[in-house]
Formats: sequence, structure tokens, C-alpha cells
Amino acid sequence: MTTQDEILGFVSPEPEMPNTFYCWAVLRDIDKVKKDEFVVITDAKRKDTIFIGQVIDINNQTIALKSFSREEMLRSGIEAEQIIKGALSRPEYFKVYAKVKLLYKVIGNNILSVDTPPTDTSPIVKRYLDLLSMILGFSSDRSNSICIGKLYANKDIDVCLDLNKMLSGHIAIFGQTGSGKSYAAGVIIEEVTSRGVPVVVFDHMGEYLSMSKAADGGKGINIIHLVPGSNITLDFEDIMKAPQILLSLGITDAQLNLLKDAYTEAVSHGFKGLGALKWLLIDVPTQKGARKRLYLIGRNRGYSTATIDGLRWKLEALLSRGIIGQGFDIKNVIKPGHLTIIDLTNVDASNRSLVVATILSKIAEGRKQNLIPPLLVVIEEAHNYVTRDETPSSLIIRDFIRGARHWGTGVMLISQRPAGLHTDALNIVNTHIIFRLKGTDLEYIKQFAPLTKEELEDIQRLPEGVAYITGPIIRGGLTVKVAIRKRRTMHGGESVKFT
Ligand SMILES: Nc1ncnc2c1ncn2[C@@H]1O[C@H](COP(=O)(O)OP(=O)(O)OP(=O)(O)O)[C@@H](O)[C@H]1O
Ligand SMILES: [Mg+2]
Repeated sequence: MTTQDEILGFVSPEPEMPNTFYCWAVLRDIDKVKKDEFVVITDAKRKDTIFIGQVIDINNQTIALKSFSREEMLRSGIEAEQIIKGALSRPEYFKVYAKVKLLYKVIGNNILSVDTPPTDTSPIVKRYLDLLSMILGFSSDRSNSICIGKLYANKDIDVCLDLNKMLSGHIAIFGQTGSGKSYAAGVIIEEVTSRGVPVVVFDHMGEYLSMSKAADGGKGINIIHLVPGSNITLDFEDIMKAPQILLSLGITDAQLNLLKDAYTEAVSHGFKGLGALKWLLIDVPTQKGARKRLYLIGRNRGYSTATIDGLRWKLEALLSRGIIGQGFDIKNVIKPGHLTIIDLTNVDASNRSLVVATILSKIAEGRKQNLIPPLLVVIEEAHNYVTRDETPSSLIIRDFIRGARHWGTGVMLISQRPAGLHTDALNIVNTHIIFRLKGTDLEYIKQFAPLTKEELEDIQRLPEGVAYITGPIIRGGLTVKVAIRKRRTMHGGESVKFT
């Protein structure tokens, strides 16, 4: 214990003896420490040992009322103050106990798990800042970390997490609608881009566009705004590198085989991408009249007319949607410190998986060939893409996430419906940021995130902008409750006011 440590109370054998999980402390004053706050216990017997704990509950009991006075209160309806004549305003008549969850034992510079309980009568003190943030595993090097906010109960402690560890482990942000997910994603994007790392966000409502403005109206982040079908198209050549993506459009296995054969033939004639597609769909004169080239190739290779016609309609429909075209150079759309927004607002829901999966494949290729720097990819409404059903796009996106960290791509999944996400994706994610959540969604994620009974209760009532962060990024895989900081850029997800 140092001279400046203020003693809050002492470890007590009541209501329960200290053990290696919890201890109780009798407090000197009810207002000195609050639920969720971190405290330090300096062991009374072992002078080199301290314990780091967190207050998880506080009991407040008056010893001024004897049991007969309580019965008298009940019978007569007279208030306690009158029965014991002013004693309730005297602090010495109160006993306040704090239940402290023991997190670490620290001997010198060694941070250990708690294998022995603290000694009865050990003082409980507040000792914060460097010590606590270091022990929790927060980063002290701001230039290389993501500073997301403050500890909810210890407002003087910044939660700064190591950028490299966080991005290589993948991140999930879950919470009910309006709980603060996109706002927090914006905070992380501000941090990541300010460290020079590019970010790509698949945005359903164009809500990240406002990040080009600072909250004070000045300049925000550099944005590359891509609107599929308008200023960006998908190269059919890229789609043909992972043609199973097309199964998401309802193309059957037989049709896909025909497409692969026909595309190979187009390539052998010097066509590729959109050119190859058009070449396959063009009318060719025959003795029996004009026929699509796709038809001739298909018949030649023994495919049925139903398969050929089915594929033809789907390819024609795809072409008419305007999202297939010249494609894009990945180097032009992902740049250091820039936020690239893939604006899906006007992309038909039936095409979104195709767009997301194709662009992700292209990012993967770009990274493998080192054409673009390491980056963070943010997928809003992730339950639409990494579904629990075995859809082709879900498979492709899961493969992308699985491989991503090996070639320097962090993935951040955002969802208000985590129960709709595939278990693979949840298993791959290391850092969970959990906002207010209830019901089946909470039930589902508790299999993946190590949350205590108390935390699970609390998550259902969290105010907006407050989240639990859990994962190996916090030392010992612990969970911390964090108040997400204010945005430096404008948030575009405000709900519309009715009056
Ligand atoms: N950390 C915060 N500080 C201040 N206000 C916040 C914070 N987080 C959220 N809010 C407020 O809560 C509102 C809703 O947050 P947000 O848009 O992030 O919700 P969401 O979880 O993404 O919801 P949805 O699932 O509907 O997209 C924001 O518009 C903002 O006003
Ligand atoms: Mg949102």
C-alpha cells in the first residue's frame, strides 16, 4: 500500500469467508465505491501481494434496528426514523459490504491467476490508471492502438486496445437496434483510419458517408464512395474465379457446370469478363434459324435444353441489373487511411450477397498479391451474409473470414440478430463487443463469449453507447464494461424524429 492510497474498506469474513473467486469487504462509506468499479486489495499478511478485483454487488444494512423494532414497524406502519429517533442519519449504524470478484493476483511484476484468497482484514484501495490499464492488457502506445472509450465504472481509465492484435483476431459488434453498434463501429473506423490503415465498409443505408465531416463541421475521414451499378461494376471474370457465388442467384449445379464449360470456350476464343458473357448470349445464325451461342455450346456438350434455357434467363437477368461491367482495379479503391464505402442502399436484396462475396474475393486476391495494404473490412447486417443456412455466399464469406487474418485483413461483423449468424463466424471472432441484447440472441452468443450470470443480466439493460468487451484482447480473457467515446466524425445513423 502506498501513502496516497485511500482505504475504502477491509476484507471481511462476513457475509462469506474470502475464497479464490470472491471476497466480501466491509466498506467505510457507501459512496466511495460503486458497482463494476475495479479495486486493489493489498494483502495484510503477504506484503508483496496485491489482488485486483471488481465490485460486483453492494449490500447496505442498518444495525440500528433490532428485530423487535422491525416487527413494530410492520405492525404499526411507523417509519424506522421515528422508532429509533434519528439514528438512520448516523453512518455508524450502517454496515456496507461490497462483493468483490477476484480477477488477478499480482506479486511484483507477475500477473497471476487467483490461486489463494486474500487475507481477512486486508485493506481495499483504489489504485488506478497505469496499474489497472496495464494489468487489464490495455495498450499504452496510442499510436498503435484503438481507443474505444473509458471503463464504465472507472471513468479515468482509457480503453486502448492493441490495433494489430484486435484486427488480426476479428471483431463482432452485437446489440439490439439503436443500442450503439454503428456508432461504435464509426469510433473504431476513426481510430483505424487515423493509424493509416484502410477500411472497407459494406453499408446498407449509406450511413457511413457522414464520416467525411467532423462532428464540429470540419473535415472528417477521406472517403471513397462506391455505388455498385453506378460508379463501380463487378467484372464477370472475377465472378468466374469463384463461380459458386452464382449459386446465390438460384443457378443450379448443372447450369453452373454448363457456364464453366461455355466460359472456358469463350476464353479460348479470346473473350473474357463481360465480353465473354455477351459473346455467349449473342444470336448465331444456323440452318434452323438464329440460336444463342450458349445454346450451341450447351447442346454440343450434351446439356439439356431446360438447363441451357434456365442459365440463359439467369445470365440475361444478371446483365440487365447493371452490376456486371468492366470491374475495377482494387488498387484504386483501397488506399491507406481511407474509408471505402460500398454503398448497398440501392442494390437489390437478391444481388447483395453476390456483390459482397465478389468484392471480398477481390480483396482477398489483392491482399495475397500484396496489391493493397493490410486493411479492416466491416460487414453491417452480417446475419444476411454469414447465415446459419449453408448458402453459397455464406460459405464464401466464411472462407474469406477464416483465411483473412493470414493475409492481413481484419473483419468486423455487425449484427442486431447474432442468432442468425453461422457458428463458424462466431468461433473465428476473438473480440466481442456486446451492446444491449435479449432473448434468443443473447442465449446464442453466450456460447461464444465468456459472460458471467451478472453480466448476462446487465446486458439486457445496458444504456445506448455502453458495451461489454470480451476476448483475449483483455488479459485473461476477462470482460470489461466500456462507455464508448463520442465520435469525432458525424454519425449518420440517427433515427428520424416524428415531431
Ligand atoms: N457512444 C455513444 N455516445 C453517444 N450517443 C450514442 C452512442 N452510441 C449510440 N448513441 C446514440 O444512439 C443512437 C443509436 O445508435 P446506433 O445508430 O449506433 O444504433 P445501432 O445499434 O447501429 O442500431 P441499428 O441496429 O438500428 O442500426 C445514435 O444515433 C446515437 O444518437
Ligand atoms: Mg446501425
